[in-house]
Amino acid sequence: MWITFVTMATAMVCLMGVHGDVQPQRDFDLQRFAGKWFRVGLAYDSPGFTAPYRDKLRVSMGILNPQTNGNVNLTMWTQRSSGCRSKLYTYEKTAIPGAFTYFSTRHNKVKDITVVETNYNEYALVLKHKKMDREYTQVALYGRSQKVKPEVIQKFRDFATSHGFPKDAILTPPPAENCPPSGR
Ligand SMILES: *[C@@H]1O[C@H](CO)[C@@H](O)[C@H](O)[C@H]1NC(C)=O
Repeated sequence: MWITFVTMATAMVCLMGVHGDVQPQRDFDLQRFAGKWFRVGLAYDSPGFTAPYRDKLRVSMGILNPQTNGNVNLTMWTQRSSGCRSKLYTYEKTAIPGAFTYFSTRHNKVKDITVVETNYNEYALVLKHKKMDREYTQVALYGRSQKVKPEVIQKFRDFATSHGFPKDAILTPPPAENCPPSGR
């Protein structure tokens, strides 16, 4: 009985290890990845991610500016109850192209950002997880426009599901209204 349990537990850890070993996009090209993106999908499984918050979620726009040293500045505009707010994030490069780290002031933790898959001109699947352990905290689907093909949405849903996100934690929010304000 005990032996069976230990064998099963070991097998499960090995399985999770395989799934946890996420590789970034092959031959990741930061220059082609730069520019404007819209976060059109979000899978986020956290107790703080409650129904009122989910309902308020809108598509966010981001501008990604590579620095000369390989780090990346990302400015994101998010619709909040207080209005449209922009925030600057700096993602630091790692030895692996397509993998970045950043310090989350909100969670007081270093997080890994992995660009799992992108075709540069249409969509990008981005995984965010806590450093060291491979606990997935977020999967985001970025599009070059506010609307992406249904096949791309399906790819995102399948990816998030295969990483353990429950269906009701996988969202494709409606477009933002005037955020960032038009004329920018
Ligand atoms: C990135 O952000 C830093 C800090 O605000 C700023 O000094 C730098 O000029 C920015 N670089 C680019 C390429 O946007």
